Amino acid sequence: MASTQVFCGTFIHSTDKDPLIILENTIIGVQRDTIIFIDNEDKIRDRLEEYQLPNNVVKYLTSGQFIIPGFVDTHAHASQYTFCGKGMDKGLLDWLDCYTFPTEARFKDTEFARDVYSKVVDRFLKNGTTTASYYATIHTDTSILLCKIIEKYGQRALVGKVNVDMEAPEYYIEDTTESVAGTEAFVKAVTELENPLITPCVTPRFAVSCSEELLKKVGQIAEQFQLPIQTHLSECRPECNVITSVHPKRLNYTDVYNHAGLLTNRTILAHSIYLCDEEIEVIKLKGCGISHCPNSNLTLRSGLLNTRTLLDKNIKIGLGTDIAGGYSPSMLNAIRQTIQISNTHAILAEKDGEKYKPLSFKEVFRLATLGGSQVLGLGKVIGNFEIGKQFDALIIDPQCTNSAFDIFDTDENKEDFLEKFLFMGDDRNIKSVYVAGRCVYEAGKRVVLSHRDS
Ligand code: GUN
Ligand code: FE
Repeated sequence: MASTQVFCGTFIHSTDKDPLIILENTIIGVQRDTIIFIDNEDKIRDRLEEYQLPNNVVKYLTSGQFIIPGFVDTHAHASQYTFCGKGMDKGLLDWLDCYTFPTEARFKDTEFARDVYSKVVDRFLKNGTTTASYYATIHTDTSILLCKIIEKYGQRALVGKVNVDMEAPEYYIEDTTESVAGTEAFVKAVTELENPLITPCVTPRFAVSCSEELLKKVGQIAEQFQLPIQTHLSECRPECNVITSVHPKRLNYTDVYNHAGLLTNRTILAHSIYLCDEEIEVIKLKGCGISHCPNSNLTLRSGLLNTRTLLDKNIKIGLGTDIAGGYSPSMLNAIRQTIQISNTHAILAEKDGEKYKPLSFKEVFRLATLGGSQVLGLGKVIGNFEIGKQFDALIIDPQCTNSAFDIFDTDENKEDFLEKFLFMGDDRNIKSVYVAGRCVYEAGKRVVLSHRDS
């Protein structure tokens, strides 16, 4: 990799203020992993001179192409990729018993784990997910293996060894001490990889399958090493009912995590559909983020998150595929289903004579990029194009050979191109995938990476 690269063309991204900004005729300079300048194309000579760069460092996009930030998947079970697209006949709790626990139990087998984990990381990158927050399984060794595979493929990720010490079958359960020790060993091993792109994430599966003691102890690990935390919250009604019986002393579902010290400004709460006002208040106060997983919520018939209400309260929200509760590994699918759920809320509100402003595609594009980065605690590192941030980006080509959609002369500008890509595009339109300045996928093929410092 050249240590400095310059990209020239159209860039599309979001800021906190504006969900969609289109920068035409723009140059972005990237030194190693970091954006060092953003300027108008007519300053290209000056910039090349300033940094003493030859002309051939400039990568010119063709007229139809544009660059967007890489997608951020805030919630995905890497280990469930084997049965992604199957087993959609059950609700969450039966689905866990029938398909999920038996599959995850197989990850004590290193070769099985290697095969599945290599395929899922490859699939995610190919689909433009430059950062993912993954759940592995309860097995420490193969959870570490997942990190090594992510490193090999060059993705950015949060990764968690899962904690489960109750309400699970005896073939897929740990005792509390073993679960805590496994988490400590996992954190140590991932830290020793010294890969700035990979962060260990404390991952108690959900309050149904974790004792109070376990929740507290992993919370202490997160606090000690200043780590992010991920778990599931309030995903479906039967699950919420179980919480009342397994944690009877707590006020509500959110209070189980709060009491255990698990709610921080780096906590990622998947689903969070059936929250009462007090729970939303606590989540806001603690600065936790919510991972909205629309495909999973529809496929497992869990419920319809009201994203607009949470956004209006300034709660951080990102999108997640939640494979294999969700059947698609693509964040484009998460974007589309987020819009459809929001539209469903609008239809239901109208029926009841109420007002509801559905999310625009621009707002949802922001959730899939900048919003996700903020939920993962990476809002200062990635998510959009700003000087000092790392260059995680996708070159999109709406007019590639065998494109998933067509462009007409009625598609007037890049906003039209982006909208069509978000609704109709697929991995064929993702020409190149960059993570931390490195091209990891090019024209549908993985770029085999040499070691990081080369
Ligand atoms: N709640 C606890 N475990 C899981 C899981 O694996 N997937 C989903 N969607 N919800 C969960
Ligand atoms: Fe999940």
